[in-house]
Amino acid sequence: MRIGVLTGGGDAPGLNAAIRAVARRGFQLGHQVSGVKNGWAGCLEEGLIDELTPADVRGILPLGGTILGTSRTNPAKEKDGISRVIETLRHHAVDALVTIGGDDTLSVAAKLHDAGFPTVGVPKTIDNDLSVTEFCIGFDTAVGVVTDALDRLHTTASAHHRVMVVEVMGRDTGWVALIGGIAGGADLIIIPEFEVPLTDVVGHLYRRRGEGKLFSIIVIAEGAHVPELEREQGGNAEKDAFGHIRLAKRGVGDLLAGAVEHRTGFETRVTVLGHLQRGGSPSPVDRLWATRLGVAAVELIVQGKSGVIPIRRNGDVDVVPFADVVQEQRRVPRDLYELNQVFG
Ligand code: F6P
Repeated sequence: MRIGVLTGGGDAPGLNAAIRAVARRGFQLGHQVSGVKNGWAGCLEEGLIDELTPADVRGILPLGGTILGTSRTNPAKEKDGISRVIETLRHHAVDALVTIGGDDTLSVAAKLHDAGFPTVGVPKTIDNDLSVTEFCIGFDTAVGVVTDALDRLHTTASAHHRVMVVEVMGRDTGWVALIGGIAGGADLIIIPEFEVPLTDVVGHLYRRRGEGKLFSIIVIAEGAHVPELEREQGGNAEKDAFGHIRLAKRGVGDLLAGAVEHRTGFETRVTVLGHLQRGGSPSPVDRLWATRLGVAAVELIVQGKSGVIPIRRNGDVDVVPFADVVQEQRRVPRDLYELNQVFG
């Protein structure tokens, strides 16, 4: 059998560990492996599917990014996109595909499966918002970046008695902001799941000053809602092929920092962590689970399974249909969100 492997959507640390796992388990079971370059774009254009050899996947375990490249191309938006993808894969003698991606990439994988092409997924997104699975490739490393940044920002915030606003990724959910913020000792965390009025932010900062705490660290997810700031933003909304607004351009951290300084007079600075959260070497947790799930994906394909995805549940590998993972987003529950209010 020839197994194809593809990485789609935003890159995340651990993708190469997963590619290596898919290839190595495929070779071990006596199969051939092809790498599809640049996500779904590699199945719509010619010349982007190549044989992967053992040498191609040697030494890539600790590398960030993806040796295959990625894109946010959405074949479902192209004329006959899904059938063209399948035609290209068949033309390259690919019998089944391992699709490593988040909700957008996996929603396309589900369409391939529905159209009769054998496809298995592997969960990836630093946003950690796929339903059912306890693990998505890249999340653990991204949390580590946020935690490290907060440790550094604490010392400079305290030296200057400043408010530091730290904008982190998180389009629809606040997992990176909340878990990174708790681990890094943030004083206030604002995430998309729970709206926070600007008056509450200002009140929080005054209370801290009143208690003699002369600096504050606010973590805000890029997709968070502060009603008073929404009004200032207007309709600045550039969208990607899956219809998502490019939040980095929205600049909610900058808006919040400006509003806080204006209303309190406290000197305020903003740091946007941006793509630093997606770069660099994967953490041991990301390496381990990318490896386990990559191996599991190939084993499912070899067993003739399709339309399913190995996930982590109760600390072990489990297998669920695509639909379970992409039908709704996993959102931060209130009790976890409220945990940080003990420390603010
Ligand atoms: O979907 C993952 C994500 O990390 C989001 O949190 C963020 O909005 C988006 O990617 C930004 O990605 P890019 O700048 O690569 O389009």
